Amino acid sequence: MVTIRAECVSDAAGRETLLDTAYGPARFTKTSERLREGRLPAEQLAFVAVDQGRLVGTVRLWHVWAGPGRRALLLGPLAVHPEFRNRGIGSMLVRHAISAARRLGHGAVLLVGDAPYYARFGFAADLTAGLWMPGRYERDRLLALELRPGALDGARGLIGAAGALAPMPDLNALVAADRGSHRRVMRRAA
Ligand SMILES: CC(C)(COP(=O)(O)OP(=O)(O)OC[C@H]1O[C@@H](n2cnc3c(N)ncnc32)[C@H](O)[C@@H]1OP(=O)(O)O)[C@@H](O)C(=O)NCCC(=O)NCCS
Repeated sequence: MVTIRAECVSDAAGRETLLDTAYGPARFTKTSERLREGRLPAEQLAFVAVDQGRLVGTVRLWHVWAGPGRRALLLGPLAVHPEFRNRGIGSMLVRHAISAARRLGHGAVLLVGDAPYYARFGFAADLTAGLWMPGRYERDRLLALELRPGALDGARGLIGAAGALAPMPDLNALVAADRGSHRRVMRRAA
């Protein structure tokens, strides 16, 4: 049976493999990715679908600015493993993420995606008429859902990244650790 649960640190490798399978390398060229790269997802808003311990679906939500001074969430990437599609898992993930966001008091969710898929959850392009993405995108694929009525009233401007920065690896420490292990190997070989 497939269950939806909060993503944990040990899910990262499975999630990335699934996203590579679903989107290929083009996933890093998407304009939405410019709003996510180097950032952490919104707290408590990253979910996975799991079947007998295997990660088969993923969705995350990210903090963004919907124009100056107006907070919103960005949904994506959403992916379900090809062998598990058309069983309602994508819908479960989206509905779960939306409910959690609403419970946490967020006002609106944006995304760039296929309107025929996302319309079933209430996403529509008319709410984003005054917003634009920081790069190339198809205007009719920029969709939004208000979790609080009126949350996007008059929303106008550039959508920008607003998430907390992800911790960067300490390169000096990594180089020092690498030199240390290199010295140990040389000593053993001598
Ligand atoms: C899109 C995706 C997440 C859907 O997952 P899923 O678990 O198969 O979705 P569900 O089972 O909840 O829904 C299946 C329904 O959505 C429809 N659907 C799937 N992708 C669609 C799309 N891009 N546009 C319109 N409808 C779509 C299916 O035809 C099916 O329709 P039906 O209910 O009338 O039979 C999955 O196909 C996927 O990972 N695709 C590759 C990545 C991707 O394109 N993600 C973003 C979509 S913009």
